[in-house]
Amino acid sequence: MTQRLAGKTCLLMGGGTSFPEGGLSNGQAVALTFAREGARIAVADLRLDAAQDTVKQILAVGGEAFALRADVSRHVDVRDAVQATLDRWSRIDILHNNVGIEARGGILDTTEEAWDRVHDINLKGAFLACKEVIPAMQSQGGGSIINVSSTASLKWGPAEFISYNSSKAALNHLTRVLARQFAPMNIRCNAVLPGMIDTPHIRTLYKDKTPEELAEIMVGRNARCPMGRQGTSQEVANAALFLASDEASYVSGVLLTVDGASSV
Ligand SMILES: NC(=O)c1ccc[n+]([C@@H]2O[C@H](COP(=O)([O-])OP(=O)(O)OC[C@H]3O[C@@H](n4cnc5c(N)ncnc54)[C@H](O)[C@@H]3O)[C@@H](O)[C@H]2O)c1
Repeated sequence: MTQRLAGKTCLLMGGGTSFPEGGLSNGQAVALTFAREGARIAVADLRLDAAQDTVKQILAVGGEAFALRADVSRHVDVRDAVQATLDRWSRIDILHNNVGIEARGGILDTTEEAWDRVHDINLKGAFLACKEVIPAMQSQGGGSIINVSSTASLKWGPAEFISYNSSKAALNHLTRVLARQFAPMNIRCNAVLPGMIDTPHIRTLYKDKTPEELAEIMVGRNARCPMGRQGTSQEVANAALFLASDEASYVSGVLLTVDGASSV
């Protein structure tokens, strides 16, 4: 069977996990899915060990990958990660911006520092990666950029994460502006907006809870989804795979919700 990303190279920002003891993070699921479909992957993460762990998993399924340490909020790190990928493979067909953090709090209790940190990582990180990768995509004749946003960019939610909401909403518009501007150069830019996904990271949000309390919280999260369950990182990766592949060759500027109709 033809691999859907055969011959393509990918720079994956945030390809590790913030909770190695858990299951598959969104970034790891994308890494493994893209690798199974034939892409070679540069896995960058703030934590080199987390990136290396993902690379190990890619190699185990017969893929090709290498690990990089990069803080996406630091221009020099992003520039180095892009250069290292180009040095290795001479092109970047797919840029997958997966990094995202959150800080609890609404407008009244979010500090200026927390606001800046969340925007620096969620929004400036994607800005810097796009800024550094687009010239390579222009000179090679095209590419696909995927920004991982969230349905929290679209609607109110009971938990307060104002800086997260704002940074992801801005990421949506960055996506659409880049899509329009670079369409003539065959560079597509889309966003995936996961809803409630049962990733290992979610468990870190409730690390102060007992196992019984956590189980209860998960029942509540499942019940809030119209399908009666949270999504999986694999379901997020499947959407990203479509956008990364040539099957989406005329798809750009899309904000693709992966939320089982939760945002409808
Ligand atoms: N899990 C959900 O329910 C959910 C819902 C909507 C959106 N998302 C989005 O999906 C993406 C991944 O989520 P996840 O749940 O798998 O989280 P995760 O925390 O497991 O993965 C994020 C990765 O980014 C890395 N990272 C953090 N700061 C970084 C930095 N400054 N530079 C480089 N790497 C950095 C972390 O080390 C981690 O490996 C995020 O953008 C998140 O906002 C998740």
